[in-house]
Amino acid sequence: MIQDIKHAQAQKREHPDPHENITPVPRKVIVIVSMALLWAVGYIFMANPNSNPALGDSRTPADLSVRAGGGAADGAQLFGAQCAACHQASGGGVPGVFPPLAGSEWVNAKETLPINILLHGISGKLTVKGAAYSGAMPAFGEKMSDAEIAAVLSHVRTHFGNSAGKIDASAVKSVREASKDRKTPWNGDDELDKLK
Ligand code: HEC
Repeated sequence: MIQDIKHAQAQKREHPDPHENITPVPRKVIVIVSMALLWAVGYIFMANPNSNPALGDSRTPADLSVRAGGGAADGAQLFGAQCAACHQASGGGVPGVFPPLAGSEWVNAKETLPINILLHGISGKLTVKGAAYSGAMPAFGEKMSDAEIAAVLSHVRTHFGNSAGKIDASAVKSVREASKDRKTPWNGDDELDKLK
């Protein structure tokens, strides 16, 4: 009997068996995470990414289309894309093959002459700065708008040491109209000398 009591007392003195608690998430972490969530949801509503076109590229198709007359044609860019392959980026040409635009008497002549050259091209013998060429200069009349021809010629006439005046799209328009019956390239010096 006494033994039983002693045993019970001994059991009372013992610590309870340890067991694993569920560790609760600290309150601080809960607060920080819910604040971040609130901010994120709020951000999505406030940024409103689909509704403000002014935030994006606001150029219209008319701005981008030179042919429509909206934007300005970029003469330097056109020269690089359409002329530099033959006449070289320096405008110096390739001796005996592609004549120079730098200091050329054709480029720096009265504006109707280079306009006519670009509109219809050239074949046959052409003398440039005292040297004879007999290649073929492609026509750009079909490929380029009045504004583009004006821009590329203005670029050529004011670079490479040239100092002839710029050319207006309206000048190209009138030369285009005046020569609209022409379907073949100019026959080199023979025809172009007469247009000088
Ligand atoms: C495929 C090569 C080629 C391309 C591209 C070309 N040309 Fe020419 N160009 C020639 C050749 C070749 C001649 C000489 C024609 C001849 O010998 O009858 C010439 C002649 C000329 C002339 C008269 C001669 C001179 O040197 O001043 C001008 C002006 C001219 N080109 C401007 C241009 C412009 C501006 C462009 C671009 C829009 C251009 N060319 C694109 C080959 C080209």
